[in-house]
Amino acid sequence: MTTTNSLMPRFVDILFFGDMVGKPGREAIYHYLDKFVDQQDTPTIVIGNVENCTHGFGISEKHYHELLNKGFHAVTGGNHSFDRKETADYISSAHCMVRPANLPGNVPGQGARIIEAFGIKIGILNILGQSYMANYNSPLESMEDYIPQLLAETPVVFVDIHAESTAEKNVLALIAAEMGVSAMVGTHTHVQTADERLLAGRCGFITDVGFNGSRNSVIGMESYSSMARMKQLGYVKLEVASLPLVQVNAVRFTIEVSSGCCTGVQRIHEVFELPAHVKL
Ligand SMILES: [Fe+2]
Ligand SMILES: [Fe+2]
Repeated sequence: MTTTNSLMPRFVDILFFGDMVGKPGREAIYHYLDKFVDQQDTPTIVIGNVENCTHGFGISEKHYHELLNKGFHAVTGGNHSFDRKETADYISSAHCMVRPANLPGNVPGQGARIIEAFGIKIGILNILGQSYMANYNSPLESMEDYIPQLLAETPVVFVDIHAESTAEKNVLALIAAEMGVSAMVGTHTHVQTADERLLAGRCGFITDVGFNGSRNSVIGMESYSSMARMKQLGYVKLEVASLPLVQVNAVRFTIEVSSGCCTGVQRIHEVFELPAHVKL
């Protein structure tokens, strides 16, 4: 049974950033956090999806530590989590990283973990969808394996379902809500949906959080190479769009610490120009 002490805050916010694409995505988030942190009274756990963090593909160890230094408490991943060779070398010592739990084979790192901040334990699970995705293990079985284990440690449990299909994300979120999850986000499409809501009166949810990065792009990647890929056969290298007009896509969940119930969901979509001194 989980107990709370009198010094523990009554509510905690989880601020989750959707897929961050390259340096424009990271810088957009850092500028948003600088603006945001002063305005909040409730302790805020900062989490984000980092599968496209380093030049659009995976995340380097350097950028993992950069995010922690900027105030992130944990990061999640997706189908691009292991795009960089170095990730397999450092992920076992990356104690704030949660990679997809339902990858086939023996994969280093952890798909579910407990982090602690402000005296509050937060259980985090990351899973991949199966519809229109590669041949991953069952996300439902991962939920059935891990969510009870996380709930045995803390009532505050957060899930990132990284998937293409909106229906798959919706049905898994309904099951997660029934299981007692506090908040669940969809990631991967990079397109924010306007359907944030509470499921079963207790689980905050959005089908897809969207992406952080250059606004005038194709889901964060440079438009011309994306169009060339559409027009011609053969290999065309995709580059991150490096334009100063950026967007921040995030969701903030307010959660009662003692019960793990979500009481509020705020969708965030901001577009602004990065300052001139930021070199992209
Ligand atoms: Fe992504
Ligand atoms: Fe993805």
